[in-house]
Amino acid sequence: MDIRKIGVVGAGQMGNGIAHVMAAAGYEVLLNDVSQEALDKGLATIRKNMERQVSKGKLDRGVMDAALARITPTLTLTDLAATDMIVESATEREEIKQAIFEELVPHLEPHTILTSNTSSISITRLASRTDRPGKFMGFHFMNPVPVMQLVELIRGIATDRETYDICLGVVENLGKTAASAEDFPAFIVNRILMPMINEAVYTLYEGVGNVRSIDRSMKLGANHPMGPLELADFIGLDTCLAIMNVLHDGLADTKYRPCPLLTKYVEAGWLGRKTGRGFYDYSGETPEPTR
Ligand code: CAA
Repeated sequence: MDIRKIGVVGAGQMGNGIAHVMAAAGYEVLLNDVSQEALDKGLATIRKNMERQVSKGKLDRGVMDAALARITPTLTLTDLAATDMIVESATEREEIKQAIFEELVPHLEPHTILTSNTSSISITRLASRTDRPGKFMGFHFMNPVPVMQLVELIRGIATDRETYDICLGVVENLGKTAASAEDFPAFIVNRILMPMINEAVYTLYEGVGNVRSIDRSMKLGANHPMGPLELADFIGLDTCLAIMNVLHDGLADTKYRPCPLLTKYVEAGWLGRKTGRGFYDYSGETPEPTR
């Protein structure tokens, strides 16, 4: 099956990155969000990130203009029904994702493939509430989407081979690399990455190190491009906590219990870069540790 038109639900951090790479690879993109403000912000981010790629010589300006022209924003979710593939990239809450699929399903073309960019929720469960579990896949991009090479492809128990192959073809067209993961809580990347981030927060909580020493240790001592606390702020502390909860509940093992300090930061609304404060304060010229 030829995929030409892709619907992206959600114009936030991940959704705008997904629309960006899809449009740059030549797909027609319908980008949906719940408010005009969210759509405008997503489109402005795409433009800014494409400009950045043009200035670094990684994208031709003509390709950028054509890619931007291929993105159509819409506030009407059901406009996405006439696409070949949908990538749901809304907030990481199961009831929200489920409501989106429920609204879309009665309007979909029979051939349309449904995918979710969920970072941890069961693909089998999301798929089971649609009319096409065989045509449902986990399509998990990494942040920042235009830079990161990996896409995790997660098959639910009912996903058919053709759907997997079509999704793999899309990943290859994007110039990215797929890793296939089984449908268990948080898949591969977050099963490994989140406990590490959570352990870094415990290290801070127990006073083993401060924000700077923990991040410096992992950057210079383990060659990570970002320290774990800096990375947590970058991903969003609410997302990190949500994924830890999925691991804790789904695998029923106390080794996945979220650090109380992570919970406290989320309760305070200190969610990282997106709110201007997390383990670092982003209000000044350079980020300053908050502990
Ligand atoms: N769009 C386009 N280009 C971007 C970009 C964006 N949003 N963000 C950065 N770039 C480009 C820059 O232009 C730069 O390009 P050049 O190499 O051509 O100069 C390059 O990426 C590196 O950026 P910077 O020089 O600004 O900064 P950096 O060297 O510190 O790299 C980083 C930034 C790529 C984000 C790097 O710090 C990194 O790899 N960090 C780790 C990211 C990571 O682990 N992501 C996975 C998170 S987990 C996840 O996403 C899964 C989940 O479900 C939670």
